[in-house]
Amino acid sequence: MAANTGGLTAVAPSAVERPSAARLAVAANTGARPALAANAAVSVRGLIRGFGPKGVLNGVDLDIAPGEFVALLGPSGCGKSTLLRALAGLDRDVRGSGVIRVPDRVSVVFQDSRLLPWDTVLGNVTLGLREHAETRACRALAEVGLAGREKSWPHQLSGGEQQRVALARSLVREPQLLLADEPFGALDALTRIRMHGLLRDLVTAHRPAVLLVTHDVDEAIALADRIVVLDHGRTATVRPVAPQVGSAADAAGHEALRRDLLTALGVHTSVGTAIESAAGAAEAAARPAAAGAR
Ligand SMILES: Nc1ncnc2c1ncn2[C@@H]1O[C@H](COP(=O)(O)OP(=O)(O)OP(=O)(O)O)[C@@H](O)[C@H]1O
Ligand SMILES: [Mg+2]
Repeated sequence: MAANTGGLTAVAPSAVERPSAARLAVAANTGARPALAANAAVSVRGLIRGFGPKGVLNGVDLDIAPGEFVALLGPSGCGKSTLLRALAGLDRDVRGSGVIRVPDRVSVVFQDSRLLPWDTVLGNVTLGLREHAETRACRALAEVGLAGREKSWPHQLSGGEQQRVALARSLVREPQLLLADEPFGALDALTRIRMHGLLRDLVTAHRPAVLLVTHDVDEAIALADRIVVLDHGRTATVRPVAPQVGSAADAAGHEALRRDLLTALGVHTSVGTAIESAAGAAEAAARPAAAGAR
């Protein structure tokens, strides 16, 4: 079980540092912003990121509480992966400023499982583990339903199984923060629904803070405690998801939140079924990688 109480790491624009009172000062060009939340797992203030002259993130503020599940929605190209990479400390060459605090133990899952093809399932999960590596890896593989597949090679697994290995590899490190960039985007609809259930169970058991990037509004509602829409480089819309929303018992609440989020994404759903169809088409169009991989 992740403790979520480890020391925090400050990731400066191009360096990883320990936080200090001085580092907690936000860059001068970000204006007045709320103070960094003392108890947050993730705290971001005035995050600016861009590539060359191109600005992508334009002053993002975001807090994620320990154990909280946040879904990040936004149009293609709006900067979701850029934000996730910044939180993962993977964007050292990107122009930027602002303050990011993340926990020590951070795991990342991508749309592509990124398994090493020349190593077995067990070898992929134990990679970099020091103590009791095999025991821990076997336990993690059992948690994702892959007990007995330890000696398989990645090419012998289905896409969904490969993503389950990727999840096992992430969770075996007991992350305090799990960053997931469209982890189910390349899976078929049925496998995706099964993976939702698995992720929900794993997060309940391990309690990491989660930031899930997705194009799928329903996926966000089904999984998240809170949904953030990124627009024009900022967190434009923030919506809590009530616990009952997403359950069969609250179809109306689900639909209202869905419409609200689609509107925030620039898809208008209030004037009849033709536009509803357009919304569905727009959502489908926003998932080119998923469609291509099926
Ligand atoms: N290495 C890079 N060099 C130059 N521009 C980049 C680079 N990486 C991303 N960008 C640009 O930054 C913008 C944001 O990219 P990002 O990958 O964060 O979008 P996204 O919201 O994740 O999109 P999608 O939903 O399609 O995955 C895009 O316009 C993209 O072209
Ligand atoms: Mg992306």
